[in-house]
Amino acid sequence: MSRTLRVDAPWQLSTLDQTLLPFEVREIRLGTAEQCHEAITAMRVRGAPLIGAVGAFGLAMALRQDASDEGLARLARWMSDARPTAVNLSWAVERVRRVAAASEGSVRAERAWAEAQHLCDEDAECNRQIGEHGASLLGALRRSDPARPLQILTHCNAGRIATVEHGTALAPVYRLHQAGVPVHVWVDETRPRNQGAALTAWELAQAGVPHTVIVDNAGGLLMMRGRIDAVITGCDRVAANGDVANKIGTYLKALAAADNGIPFYVACPLSTVDPGTADGAAIAVEERSAREVTHLRGQLADGRVAEIRLVPEGAAALNPGFDITPGRLVTALITERGPAPASPEGLRGIFPEGFAIPSALRPEGAPT
Ligand code: MRU
Repeated sequence: MSRTLRVDAPWQLSTLDQTLLPFEVREIRLGTAEQCHEAITAMRVRGAPLIGAVGAFGLAMALRQDASDEGLARLARWMSDARPTAVNLSWAVERVRRVAAASEGSVRAERAWAEAQHLCDEDAECNRQIGEHGASLLGALRRSDPARPLQILTHCNAGRIATVEHGTALAPVYRLHQAGVPVHVWVDETRPRNQGAALTAWELAQAGVPHTVIVDNAGGLLMMRGRIDAVITGCDRVAANGDVANKIGTYLKALAAADNGIPFYVACPLSTVDPGTADGAAIAVEERSAREVTHLRGQLADGRVAEIRLVPEGAAALNPGFDITPGRLVTALITERGPAPASPEGLRGIFPEGFAIPSALRPEGAPT
């Protein structure tokens, strides 16, 4: 399976236009900073790690036009602001900005491009490791009947197409499937943009992983009836206290999982941890167009793709894109360094090189 984001030639990327899936599979080319920025804001590319990677390459492309100190600062801000909630975007852009800032103007763009390539390779490797760690945790939940598939519920799309390669939440699922472990995925449709119904169902089908799409409100009943062994989602930002931002609706699944004694895992590359944000309350939640709530895109019987209205004309709608799951509801973060509790202590444990916990969270006398 090839990477979601490919470098075709110097200064030329290609990827899938995810706004068209599952009805049309179309490659798009990204050859300018403006195209990268537009792809992120229009959600042609989406998912925290993938927007980070595209933002990193986008900044490198922008530096070909203006590599001055002022240009570097301005362009990095512009690219980081393309979407607010996933910290991977500002993290990746900042990483490339730093490398560029440490270089002479004449080579800034080239150095930035090389850094973006490293970042992509690292994303792929981190996700591969998340797959290994997650497969061990999930595999241990198998019940005694070997023929019964492991029943996993996921929300939104944290699969291959949300990352450079492998996915985060789906990486363990792919790993188990490859190893011959029977696994079945319950796919939350994930209104309003339907990343589950449109994207997760599409990529699981490509990989031959058995799955069933359910409406967002069905998970609670399935948990109560013993039909789900574990929930695993991706994340867009983990605050320093372990609170997790992810696609709207994640919190309700975590509540239902806790009430039913079902493990709730969050797959989380370390690039998604933000020590600079104290807690979930401080995470900026992207508010998107009300039209995503009031209207729905789908395929008509004649094959045409069309948009329909669902609500009375003029009905008001609100569309927060993400919610916050308190760390106490998360059984473990699954990182490339292994599982960790979603707490300040847990995060400190997976960052032996140092993890700056904001003073507001630090118990008196505790080390920084
Ligand atoms: O708005 P989206 O589609 O970019 O939201 C994506 C999610 O919420 C994912 O779960 C998250 O980014 C992790 S992707 C590995």
